[in-house]
Amino acid sequence: MDKAETALLALRMRDWVSQAGAHIRHHIHDPLHVQTKSSRKDLVTNLDKQTEWDLIAAIRTEYPQAQIMGEEGSGDHVTDLKGLVFFVDPIDGTMNFVKQKYNFAIMIGAYIDGAPHVGVILNVMRQELYWGGPQLGVFKNETPIKAVSPLSLADGLFGINSGMLAYDRYHSHQLFKTSAGMRILGSAGIEYIQLLEGRQVAYLSHLAPWDVAAGRVMAETLGMSVSRLDGHPLDMLSSGDVLIATAPTVADIRAIALDQPR
Ligand code: IPD
Ligand code: CA
Ligand code: CA
Repeated sequence: MDKAETALLALRMRDWVSQAGAHIRHHIHDPLHVQTKSSRKDLVTNLDKQTEWDLIAAIRTEYPQAQIMGEEGSGDHVTDLKGLVFFVDPIDGTMNFVKQKYNFAIMIGAYIDGAPHVGVILNVMRQELYWGGPQLGVFKNETPIKAVSPLSLADGLFGINSGMLAYDRYHSHQLFKTSAGMRILGSAGIEYIQLLEGRQVAYLSHLAPWDVAAGRVMAETLGMSVSRLDGHPLDMLSSGDVLIATAPTVADIRAIALDQPR
């Protein structure tokens, strides 16, 4: 895809998530139909399903050949990453959406033959849209974002999944002591935004492809590392423990989390 086609793709993706965000804000105080999925902490609502349906319909209209992986099941059964593939998380941070009406995001990542191409993350209630990719750079609304400072773990805040911290997985209590502090936000998209803005140096969580995809495009474009915690490259077809961090922090975290020599 040349730069003009990529810019058009980004413009469309921004437009789709902006419209979806406006729809959610319009219905934010409507009664919700909430269901549980894998556990009582894993929720889906009628607005998650409706938003995914609307986003996928928009994608199919413009890119009928593309494959689409959607969290709530209205997409395709994607088994390879050939061609243009969209990853759709219609509401990221559904628990926050239900309990707080705040701190949730809409995310779409576009990949070509497995390579990150364009990502968009909308902080729905703040109406802040992060978008970009390797051909375009990264922007917050219309303002370019610069590469983040390569801070170490001791000098930065560390975002983590609450279950990992509660159960001390990967020596996360030691990671807490070594870092400047930990933050738990309940939305991978909102965590990614903290990294893109340089407000946190790392995020560690168990994530699905639709949680990782959009932010990965932008984080890597700004020079951050996105990988499995154990250092293996990401597999965009399966879930796993993912570390997103500045380069010095990756080494700091792996040394503690995996008992690796420095
Ligand atoms: C979840 C959130 C949460 C993360 C979970 C995700 P959802 O997404 O991003 O912060 O810890 O792993 O599944 O289910 O609200 O889209
Ligand atoms: Ca979701
Ligand atoms: Ca999610």
